[in-house]
Amino acid sequence: MDRFIVQGEVQLCGSIAVSGAKNATLPVMAASLLCSGITVLHNVPNLRDIRIMQEILTLLGAKIVRQQHTMIIDTTGVNKAEIPENLMREMRASVFLMGPLLGRFRKVKLSYPGGCAIGPRPINLHIKALEKIGATVIESYGYIDAVSTKLTGGKIQFDFPSVGATENAMMAAVLASGVTVIHNAAREPEIIDLQAFLNKMGAKVYGAGTDTIRIEGVNKLNAAEHTIMPDRIEAGTFLLAGAITSGDVVVEGILPEYLFSVIDKLQEIGLQIDIGYNYIRVRAGEMRGVDVNTLPYPGFPTDLQAPLLSLLTIAKGSSIITETIFENRFKHVDELTRMGARIKVEGRTAIVRGVNGLTGAIVSAPDLRAGGALVLAALAAKGTSEIEHVSHIDRGYEQLEVKLRSLGANIYRLKQVT
Ligand code: EPZ
Repeated sequence: MDRFIVQGEVQLCGSIAVSGAKNATLPVMAASLLCSGITVLHNVPNLRDIRIMQEILTLLGAKIVRQQHTMIIDTTGVNKAEIPENLMREMRASVFLMGPLLGRFRKVKLSYPGGCAIGPRPINLHIKALEKIGATVIESYGYIDAVSTKLTGGKIQFDFPSVGATENAMMAAVLASGVTVIHNAAREPEIIDLQAFLNKMGAKVYGAGTDTIRIEGVNKLNAAEHTIMPDRIEAGTFLLAGAITSGDVVVEGILPEYLFSVIDKLQEIGLQIDIGYNYIRVRAGEMRGVDVNTLPYPGFPTDLQAPLLSLLTIAKGSSIITETIFENRFKHVDELTRMGARIKVEGRTAIVRGVNGLTGAIVSAPDLRAGGALVLAALAAKGTSEIEHVSHIDRGYEQLEVKLRSLGANIYRLKQVT
């Protein structure tokens, strides 16, 4: 497993452009299965999770070519609707394939996606949504079989605005006969990107980004060309990197309106923020502790909870961070404690008491965003840090160390020859 070696106490300065959004790319790749043709996607990030989705689509019969950040997906040869167990286990986001495979082949078989480091990750809302539009879903022996002779539009009411369940429902409903309305839909920006792609294919989807999405079923969809939106979570991570190192960083090529909850929190902490039409600039300020609850969009994103917590370990005073989305998303706390942070976790709440500074240590990335948080802490810490299990970080951040080095960070990847 590769590791990062970081020499801390370097103020980051300069401009950095983010990659395409992982969490928009995955559902859009899945949606390409809804038609037989050649889909062209631009601004696709080069990430481990994207490569796994590519492997799954190829196993289902698709032919995929990558040219830099463009991906060409030929789905004319797709003739399978069963997702192999080993790949399901490697990436639970494969659950996004239920909707499109049901929509195109009226059947899908996949192993029950296990939990992951951040929680059990149930899919009851996905299944309930698919049943509402005519699917019969059988869960047995660790597998899920969904079949439907005919998908018909229906009314879906989510108990919780699940991102994945909203996206699965959209992708299953676009080829159903009649109208489907999703109430209490997730409002994340990546859902707006999925709607844009589906409508380029000839679908009739309206309302993404609000809590009510209307889908008028059509008979056929065609392949389309689409540019993936910029990654707001990567953008937030770089803003927090500039903040934690008391630097001066411009994150560009982004949609600032998708980061207003993060900007608001950074300003509350005391950082100087300038907002342009496609960039945000963060400069150092006297940092003080704040309270934050993670919430469904447009609330503060759970994917930036860990990186923000790293910043708050060196803010003056105390902070209370409540993780309302996932059950077990404080795995970065033990590792930050090794670096001198003072944090107490009680259930879904972490109480942080600011310290004057962190010290470098050998730490291990427990999951994707916790790994990002440890990198930020190492950038600010006194001395040298080693971050193990960088493969978790590579799932969601493309060449993180290269991008941070372009801002002046002293961070290098030590490739572990296995
Ligand atoms: C998406 O996961 C993202 N992943 C996650 O990003 C992100 O943290 C999450 O949305 C919330 O924003 C992708 O888009 C690939 P949810 P998803 O369904 O769809 C519960 C990252 O780091 N729930 O909104 O799985 C669930 O247990 C990843 O990039 C049910 O109870 O999120 C969780 O507590 C991590 N039943 C909560 O809802 C269900 O059927 C949020 O889950 C589905 C979800």
